[in-house]
Amino acid sequence: MVKSRPCRLQAGFPAATGSPMSIATAFRPFRPDDRAAVVRLWHDAWHDGHGAVLPAHVVAERTMESFDLRLGPLEAGCLVAEADGRILGFAIVEGNEIDQFYVVAEARGTGLATAMLDAAETQLARRGVRDAVIQCSAGNDRAHRFYARAGWRDSGVRQAPIWTPDGRHETHPTHIFVKQLSSLD
Ligand SMILES: CC(C)(COP(=O)(O)OP(=O)(O)OC[C@H]1O[C@@H](n2cnc3c(N)ncnc32)[C@H](O)[C@@H]1OP(=O)(O)O)[C@@H](O)C(=O)NCCC(=O)NCCS
Repeated sequence: MVKSRPCRLQAGFPAATGSPMSIATAFRPFRPDDRAAVVRLWHDAWHDGHGAVLPAHVVAERTMESFDLRLGPLEAGCLVAEADGRILGFAIVEGNEIDQFYVVAEARGTGLATAMLDAAETQLARRGVRDAVIQCSAGNDRAHRFYARAGWRDSGVRQAPIWTPDGRHETHPTHIFVKQLSSLD
């Protein structure tokens, strides 16, 4: 379990009014009532990061229903970032990997992603993971820059399997980022 851990977004996060503000954010485990918000966030942010990168037929298959279907077995490893009752981001950890990592458009560039990555790394470290992995589709330049800046090392590109609704085998060039996590002992 991840403890809720308050943090402060950097000033500049746009409030509903459009004015800059600082807002307290907590990182906590996924709850069943988060489901609709996480599915919507995953769908929208996935398309932002990958819509221009993956082949059109793959993009067309990534519907809201497809993300709803995928979330079920991954809920146990899902960590959400919540501020003022709203889900602003989520990460899913699986094995030694940060398997999914998404932030709403309005919270990008605010520092929330850095704090959420830190929380996800802590979760992996608590599970005893030392050698952690993040996969990042080639062409997702913003995510690539973000992980590199956060101290993750790009160990190279490989043809990695991508999710398909019918289970067919399909791959895409993917950067494999690695990071050695500090022990929490
Ligand atoms: C990836 C993501 C979590 C990063 O969070 P973020 O708040 O946007 O990250 P930051 O703004 O702190 O850092 C992004 C970096 O990309 C740069 N950047 C901004 N827009 C960019 C663009 N259109 N193309 C390339 N780089 C860009 C930023 O300048 C920054 O680099 P720098 O630190 O060298 O200046 C967030 O953008 C996101 O959710 N994207 C959509 C979903 C996604 O792609 N998830 C990752 C799947 S592997």
